[in-house]
Amino acid sequence: MDDKRFIANKELVEDDGDVSLRPKTFDEYIGQDKVKSLLKVYVEASKRRGEALDHVLLYGPPGLGKTTLSHIIASELGVEIKVTSGPGIERAANLASLLTNLQDRDVLFLDEIHRLSHSVEEILYPAMEDFALDISTGKGAGATSLRLNLNRFTLIGATTRAGMLTGPLRDRFGVICRLEAYSRDDLVRIVRRSAKLLKIEIATDAAAELASRSRGTPRIANRLLKRVRDFAEVYNSGAIDLAITKRALDDMEIDPLGLDYNDKKLLAALTEKFGGGPTGLDTLAAAINEDAGTIEDVIEPYLIQLGFIARTPRGRVALKGAYDHLGIKPDKRAVQLGFLTDDGNE
Ligand code: ADE
Repeated sequence: MDDKRFIANKELVEDDGDVSLRPKTFDEYIGQDKVKSLLKVYVEASKRRGEALDHVLLYGPPGLGKTTLSHIIASELGVEIKVTSGPGIERAANLASLLTNLQDRDVLFLDEIHRLSHSVEEILYPAMEDFALDISTGKGAGATSLRLNLNRFTLIGATTRAGMLTGPLRDRFGVICRLEAYSRDDLVRIVRRSAKLLKIEIATDAAAELASRSRGTPRIANRLLKRVRDFAEVYNSGAIDLAITKRALDDMEIDPLGLDYNDKKLLAALTEKFGGGPTGLDTLAAAINEDAGTIEDVIEPYLIQLGFIARTPRGRVALKGAYDHLGIKPDKRAVQLGFLTDDGNE
């Protein structure tokens, strides 16, 4: 490897890998067309009025671009963005200090907003609604309360679990957007764009293969692109063709649909150990030794999208597609439950 190449790679690592690949404007951002076109209107309108953009809630599975879109919104608004997260704000005073430091129309990006503590959330209500901080001092009869005005700002909340937000918090967002898994075509475009930025040459069919195995998620596509590059450098003098792409992904145990070891483990437990379900989330989590939250946020959305499993009031069930993909036959009880018919797949 020559020196120049090494330096280029080092810079990317220091840049946290993905940051260098992040699109910086709406026009550079590929996919999520509906959300993007709505956000463009809201951003443009608030700019014309010279007002802060209404608070925005972005929700959907991890890796679909919530953080990236937030940076784009701030940059298109021409304002600063401050970044924090629900678990990162331990005390109300931490949030108060962030809020008082925001300039007029700045963006505060709050990742994992569903994990805010109750006391911190209480501070957020008047901040979002009235751009004010209510500070109480003293106790009992001597307690006094003071209202401090804040600059007008935009809160962008991001969550993988919109359902876990309290009603009052959700109601304070003027814009609520759900991010969807990316189409294969969009992922191909993302892979090709990233390859260009990383100065990697990738064959068209190799990019398509990589996109197909990225489970609708740019973050995964970009990660796999870098691993495939490793294989290409070691085994193929750097050329990324279809054969080396398939070999790399097969060696990483990522199957043609993008399912990995964890997906397989879950499907095997549900179909074999639990006869197709219905199985409660916690039971499933214990059986495969995985955190229930990770199952809900990371593993299940894609399996549901593929029509391999469903969430029912009585628990998770395996659907026909899962058995077909695994090449196994459902047992009699699973057939009797009725989830394996086309109707059950709806
Ligand atoms: N890299 C990661 N996500 C992207 C997107 N949506 N568009 C372009 N490049 C990306």
